[in-house]
Amino acid sequence: MYLEYWGLTKFPFENVADPYFFYLSESHEEALSRLLYGSRMRKGGVMLTGDIGCGKTMVSKVYTNKLMEEGYGVILLTNPPLGPVEFLQEILYQMGVEKLPDSRTKLLQLLNKHMVYNMEQNKETIVIIDEAQILNEETFEEARLLLNFQNKDRFFLTLVLIGQNELKAKISHLAQLYQRIAIRYHLRPFHFLDTAKYILFREKKAGLTKNIFTTEAIKQVYEYSQGVPRKVNSVCDLSLLVTFNKKRKVIDSDIIRSVVDDLR
Ligand SMILES: Nc1ncnc2c1ncn2[C@@H]1O[C@H](COP(=O)(O)OP(=O)(O)OP(=O)(O)O)[C@@H](O)[C@H]1O
Ligand SMILES: [Mg+2]
Repeated sequence: MYLEYWGLTKFPFENVADPYFFYLSESHEEALSRLLYGSRMRKGGVMLTGDIGCGKTMVSKVYTNKLMEEGYGVILLTNPPLGPVEFLQEILYQMGVEKLPDSRTKLLQLLNKHMVYNMEQNKETIVIIDEAQILNEETFEEARLLLNFQNKDRFFLTLVLIGQNELKAKISHLAQLYQRIAIRYHLRPFHFLDTAKYILFREKKAGLTKNIFTTEAIKQVYEYSQGVPRKVNSVCDLSLLVTFNKKRKVIDSDIIRSVVDDLR
């Protein structure tokens, strides 16, 4: 579409959680650092919550890459199965088990065998559950039991729960699990300065040599999006298209205003 017109090598504002475009805002940096601390210090349970579209999935991808580089066994459930049996099956599948039994008891035996093996090898496992707010109580209980893989001084499995705000409320009713969540963090939207830097950062990563948004335009983007990255992306992407259609070279506040009207 507009790539050539703007001299871009990639679409700068796609709503895809692509670590290539990861911008370390104050809050995203803190989130990542707490997740890494939780796994490196073997804290057992870790929880990351945040508003819709704030970058939780993005952080989970960057975190997963980092853990893989460091040699952890990583299990990432991005669309977590609702029931306990499917939940255990998915974990075992990601551990490389191909013939998956249907009974919960057999699944637990198998999981136990794998975890004991990992513990003997000193290999730590990190189970990351994105969209954890959709799990039911039984599945949360199954997730809690994963934390029993520990010896007297350390956990061999770190459970990382990631989800929207309702995750906090749901977990707070499950006292046993709640108490085992040693590290928590709530991801915030960007403040104004981070929003501006984020836009410039993504433009550059996509191949632009010069910023094409006026300061006023960026202020308008912030006003509309309140620093929520998914919303920032939507406005910026559409304004690149509209400006290209008008054959203009700068994105000003009038353009943003009309795009915001369309998005509303
Ligand atoms: N720190 C960041 N750096 C670069 N891009 C980001 C960042 N955070 C979010 N984004 C962008 O915003 C989009 C939305 O973020 P993401 O999907 O991670 O949000 P979420 O919190 O998981 O939302 P939901 O609550 O709907 O699951 C991503 O596709 C990505 O393009
Ligand atoms: Mg998400």
